[in-house]
Amino acid sequence: MKEFGHFDDKAREYVVTEPATPWPWINYMGTEDFFSLISNTAGGYCFCRDAKFRRILRYRYNGVPMDAGGRYFYLKDGDTVWNPGWKPCKTPLDFYECRHGMGYTRITGEKNGLRAEVLFFVPVGYRCEIHRVRLTNTSSAHKSFQLYGLLEWCLWNASTDMENFQRNLSTGEVEVEPDAIYHKTEYRERRDHYAFYGVNRHFDGFDTDRETFIGMYNGFDAPQQVLAGTSGGSVAHGWSPVAAPRFDITLEAGASEELVFVLGYVENPPEAKFTAPGVINKAPARAMLQAFATPAQVDAAFTALKAFWDDLLSRFSVASVVPELDRTVNIWNQYQCMITFFMSRSASYFESGIGRGMGFRDSNQDLAGIVHLIPDRARQRILDIAATQFPDGGCYHQYQPLTKRGNNDIGGGFNDDPLWLIFGTVAYIKETGDFGILQEPVPFDNKPGTEVSLLDHLKISFKHVTDNLGPHGLPLIGRADWNDCLNLNCFSDNPDESFQTTENKTEGSQAESLMIAGLFVAEGRDFAQLLEHPRVAADPAYVAEVRAAVAAMETAVKKDGWDGEWFLRAYDFYGNKIGSHTCEEGKIFIESQGWCTMARIGAEEGLCDKALDSAVKYLECEHGLVLNAPAYTRYLKEYGEISSYPQGYKENAGIFCHNNPWVIIGEAMAGRAENAWRHYCQITPSFGKDQSLRKVEPYVFCQMVAGRDAARPGEGKNSWLTGTAAWTWKCVSEFILGVKPQYDGLLIEPCLPLRYGQYRIQRRFRDADYDITIRLTGAGGSRFIPYRPGRQVIDIEI
Ligand code: BGC
Ligand code: NOJ
Repeated sequence: MKEFGHFDDKAREYVVTEPATPWPWINYMGTEDFFSLISNTAGGYCFCRDAKFRRILRYRYNGVPMDAGGRYFYLKDGDTVWNPGWKPCKTPLDFYECRHGMGYTRITGEKNGLRAEVLFFVPVGYRCEIHRVRLTNTSSAHKSFQLYGLLEWCLWNASTDMENFQRNLSTGEVEVEPDAIYHKTEYRERRDHYAFYGVNRHFDGFDTDRETFIGMYNGFDAPQQVLAGTSGGSVAHGWSPVAAPRFDITLEAGASEELVFVLGYVENPPEAKFTAPGVINKAPARAMLQAFATPAQVDAAFTALKAFWDDLLSRFSVASVVPELDRTVNIWNQYQCMITFFMSRSASYFESGIGRGMGFRDSNQDLAGIVHLIPDRARQRILDIAATQFPDGGCYHQYQPLTKRGNNDIGGGFNDDPLWLIFGTVAYIKETGDFGILQEPVPFDNKPGTEVSLLDHLKISFKHVTDNLGPHGLPLIGRADWNDCLNLNCFSDNPDESFQTTENKTEGSQAESLMIAGLFVAEGRDFAQLLEHPRVAADPAYVAEVRAAVAAMETAVKKDGWDGEWFLRAYDFYGNKIGSHTCEEGKIFIESQGWCTMARIGAEEGLCDKALDSAVKYLECEHGLVLNAPAYTRYLKEYGEISSYPQGYKENAGIFCHNNPWVIIGEAMAGRAENAWRHYCQITPSFGKDQSLRKVEPYVFCQMVAGRDAARPGEGKNSWLTGTAAWTWKCVSEFILGVKPQYDGLLIEPCLPLRYGQYRIQRRFRDADYDITIRLTGAGGSRFIPYRPGRQVIDIEI
């Protein structure tokens, strides 16, 4: 099996050693509101706060060749032109390496005795990317050569930048100083932000107009100025503004030189926008350039970034005898949870950054991956999400990060949505003990004056389900449940309309969801437990009501949601079964097996074990559990988008990794460690997958891996931004390693095969540090460790 790189766990890096990876392997940079995507060949882009409205670098999704646009450095050394990251010139290098680390990427290339190491990172507390270029003459002779940088500016709105050419080919504007290029497009009275590319050394030449720099009919791989060793000194007026500084450098044998490039973003207050008519106020940019003028300043900022991640990743770590497990838990899974929290589903190499805001259900689930890392930000996120809810408990499916307002274009009516607010809030309070959040006033639909407590939002979330029950007493599905593609009321026969927003036929619908039923039972129990906690002490009559509704739902599932060997998936509009042995295709689905077994519905009667056995029998393959089986082979109008996908992809029998942990948790709750572990290894990338087949990054989970009915089972897609990150985290930390945060302490309840003997967990919990050694003896059971500040060393046999 060909390998394109390897893990360096000590450095918390993945080392790409072959630039032509099967798909660009990317990393993220940024910790607050300035974020960057960077591939192993320096492709990608950055934005501030909102990937659609404040896009700084232009990027061509779907470009040919793939991954065009980024921050490129060109070296012209004699007749050879090359890039440290291999692309775009693709000149064969004598050495290439890309190290993707926590919030930074370091790309090194060497050619003909010249070595260029570029460190890319976004410093904590600044809205900029640093590109530190270290050039070394590794030959035995003196060398004179040229270094060029190249960025292409996006005209802010990443969507219109790609489509409204009649306007935007006339808007581009720049200002140039001896050491900095400013992208001030549209910076007039309406817009108050600009970007810049500055260097701690004066340019020897520059271009800011793409055509002058590259040439009308050349590509990034052959900029005419670089080929000629010149600069055009162009000042962009419209068309496509770029920043392409040039440096003429001479290095003695063995000598090195460092240049620091700063790609920054500035917002000026309205009263301080200009220093003269039409001239932008550059003081904030100058201050940023000053902050990174010397290598020592850059080193300090890089150390601070490392400290940021070291601190986060010290909050939970495991030392076991399985290196793949330790690597996933200690480094990459937590890192992916943070990135997913930052980005939601907005910007990746599969999400264009223009389509999707923050999902109500997605953002709530993402919390489960980060409450232990950044509780304060989790708190704010919960309040932001809750503020997009409607008084009847329903909610916008998505909201925009820039405005935090619900997004009407995406619609609503996904009947699982409200319950995830309970899920997210419970996860947060169990981690932090911050019951106070429940009393925070939160409006409906962001309308001032409508505030009720967050606890009231949870109550109406719960009520939204009981207000919307179908003929079997099961939850009506609405537009869809967690599976956005199970559109049972949509009946779309027009290929030009979106399944997500097309008019739903709700009148008379009998479409009910067993996934929501399981979710309701599990979250309803959690909710009741929260309400009963002495710090909440809710009205006992209300708690009894909640418990009764949960019990009624369990009864309904056992009566009308059980198919004999597994849980049904749904009833359709007409009241026909979905996910039943009586169906021709789609006889069994994963979501209801996951949620009903996590809710332990019918456990005493053996339903959970049977459902889990059926999942193994009908859904499992070597790459994980597929979503449904058999796959749909034709479009069924009454089922919607799910049946629009080819067999084995996405929601039609793909391995939708997000939901595999539900079954794994179900297995763990049933005490079936071997199954739980096997399923976990199947979807976890660091357990040695075939990199050429998998295609996407070997260090992060994918949303979907092609299922066994696909042309290439095992091929991964939609890496990085997926609920899989938070769910695998919850699954491995709480259910496999067995450290479960509770309101008043930690419950230790592992489910790892006995052969792994023992392991040690170091976990920060509020202001306590637990150092727990767990020895697996097979005795089973659990142990509760009450919360107490300070350090506790604990040794448990279990
Ligand atoms: C995808 C889903 C996604 C939905 C909403 C569908 O096309 O298959 O995975 O949740 O779009 O954006
Ligand atoms: C991706 C979406 O972001 C998520 O909300 C949904 O639950 C899954 N797809 C399944 O359809």
